[in-house]
Amino acid sequence: MKPIKRILAENPNIPLIQQLYGQNLDNILQQISTSQDKKIYLISQKQLGLKRILKFFKSNQIEFKIIGKKSPDLRLIELNPQTVNLEITEQSVTLKVGETAKTLKTSNSIFSKNQIDPGSQKCLEYLEDKKLPITGQVLEVGSGYGAISYYLLSKYQEIFLDTYEIDQPSVVNCEDNLKGFQNKKIHLENFFNTKLFKKFDYLIANPPLHISSDERKQMFSKIHANNANLKMVLIIKSRFAQRFLDSCQKYYPSAKLIKIDNYFILTNLEA
Ligand SMILES: C[S@@+](CC[C@H](N)C(=O)[O-])C[C@H]1O[C@@H](n2cnc3c(N)ncnc32)[C@H](O)[C@@H]1O
Repeated sequence: MKPIKRILAENPNIPLIQQLYGQNLDNILQQISTSQDKKIYLISQKQLGLKRILKFFKSNQIEFKIIGKKSPDLRLIELNPQTVNLEITEQSVTLKVGETAKTLKTSNSIFSKNQIDPGSQKCLEYLEDKKLPITGQVLEVGSGYGAISYYLLSKYQEIFLDTYEIDQPSVVNCEDNLKGFQNKKIHLENFFNTKLFKKFDYLIANPPLHISSDERKQMFSKIHANNANLKMVLIIKSRFAQRFLDSCQKYYPSAKLIKIDNYFILTNLEA
């Protein structure tokens, strides 16, 4: 099997979908099924569910072949998009934190479509419990359909919230869920490629965890260049926590981890 890098260098214009940020199977199928090309190419990785994707392709008569690899994790798959169908179905989750209760719209192709992600729920309970005096410009990285965003905007009317999300279907839902608030801007953007255009006071997020060390570095160096005194509350799954702390402490030496069940809060605020 050829190295992916070589195939892409020889065919720089092939229609390519990359499962590099944790999209679920429905999200991948949606992107494939809307393609007008005769052939489409998918880069998927084992730790994000390559096996499940291939099993689905096999049991649903989807024409595909694996044509490239990058050890040990990535595979390049060639597919016939005409053999893929996916209906987008509207779904919903219920957000309940303290006095805040709200049904939020999701769809089958987005992250944590049927329930508030347990990490986001822990983050919100932490914020509710600490009663932090959040004011000013707030940044959220990886806002999904807007669970944390909705809580922040309904709880803290004085803030302005900028959310960044790379996934288009999530942003569509987020816009709908937050349409009642004026004090926000939803950016459909890869946060790691974006230039920050204003000074943020707070970073509050359940960020993407499957990111490279370079992207972690970029994230903290970028917000640090923007404000060395920025305050942060990030919720991180246990197995990713130490690497996030290490990257963060290079820029915010007072950052620490606070354990909550299978998660850690990464913060530079007093406990
Ligand atoms: C752990 S999920 C949290 C989602 C949301 N906050 C929630 O509670 O449901 C992380 C989110 O980050 C998004 N994401 C991944 N890579 C990104 C990037 N480079 N820039 C912006 N968002 C990204 C994913 O699409 C996903 O929605």
